[in-house]
Amino acid sequence: MKHAHDHIRSYVIRQTRMSKHQREAFERLYPVYGVALCARPPIWSQVFGNDNPVIVEIGFGMGEALIEVARRLPEFNFFGIEVHKPGLGKTLAQIEQLQLSNVRVIREDAVLVFRQMIAPESVSGIHLFFPDPWPKKRHHKRRLIKPGFPELVMPALLEGGYLYLATDWDDYAAQIREVLDAQPELRRREVDAPYARPETAFERKGLAQNHQIHELFYRRLRRACD
Ligand SMILES: C[S@@+](CC[C@H](N)C(=O)[O-])C[C@H]1O[C@@H](n2cnc3c(N)ncnc32)[C@H](O)[C@@H]1O
Repeated sequence: MKHAHDHIRSYVIRQTRMSKHQREAFERLYPVYGVALCARPPIWSQVFGNDNPVIVEIGFGMGEALIEVARRLPEFNFFGIEVHKPGLGKTLAQIEQLQLSNVRVIREDAVLVFRQMIAPESVSGIHLFFPDPWPKKRHHKRRLIKPGFPELVMPALLEGGYLYLATDWDDYAAQIREVLDAQPELRRREVDAPYARPETAFERKGLAQNHQIHELFYRRLRRACD
C-alpha cells in the first residue's frame, strides 16, 4: 500500500487567510466530525453510527454543495474530502449549526484517501464539482481527472453507483468525457434529480466569465442486468 505523495498533486495549499470563526470551528470541531487518514478503510457504520449508503465528495471547497445535499438527503451519509483549511472550518461550523449527523470530513489529499481508505464497492456516489481546472497546458498533468483516475475511484462504487462531476472549462469537460466515456463499466446519463447540486462559489466565478457549465453524470453498470 502506498502512503507517500508519490503522485503529482492536484492542488496547492493556498495561504488564504482563515477567519477567526473558521479557525475556531476547525480547531473545536475537526476532532468531532473529522476522520483521520488510516491505512485501512474505516467501518462506515462506526463512523456514522448507521448503515446508510455513503456518498463521497472530493474537493468540497467551502462546503456549499456538501451541506445542501446532505440536508436534502438525510437517508445518505456524506464523506467530504478537502485540503483547504478555511473551507473545512466553514463547513464544520455549518455541520454544527444545522446539526447534521450525516456528514464527516477529512483533511487530506483525495488520492491518498481513495488509495487507502475507500474500500472496493463501498460507496453509492462520488461528487466532484469544479475541480481545479489547471488551464495552462503545462499544468494539465495536475488535473485530477486524467488517465488513471477511473482506476482510482471506480472500484469504490457499488454496482449501480454514480460519479457526478461539473466543470465550467470546455476543454476539461472534453478531457473528462474522453477518460470516462472510455470506461466500459460506466454509462453517461442525465443528472439524477435527487442528487442535483446547488450553485457553488466556483460555479458563480465561471458564470461571471460567461463559461458554460458542463454536468457529467455516470452510472456504474449493474453487471447482470444492464
Ligand atoms: C475549484 S475548487 C471547487 C470547490 C467546490 N467544489 C466548489 O464547487 O465551489 C477545487 C477544490 O478542490 C480541492 N482539491 C483539489 N485537489 C484535491 C485533492 N487531491 N484532495 C482534496 N481536495 C482537493 C481544492 O483545495 C479546492 O478547494
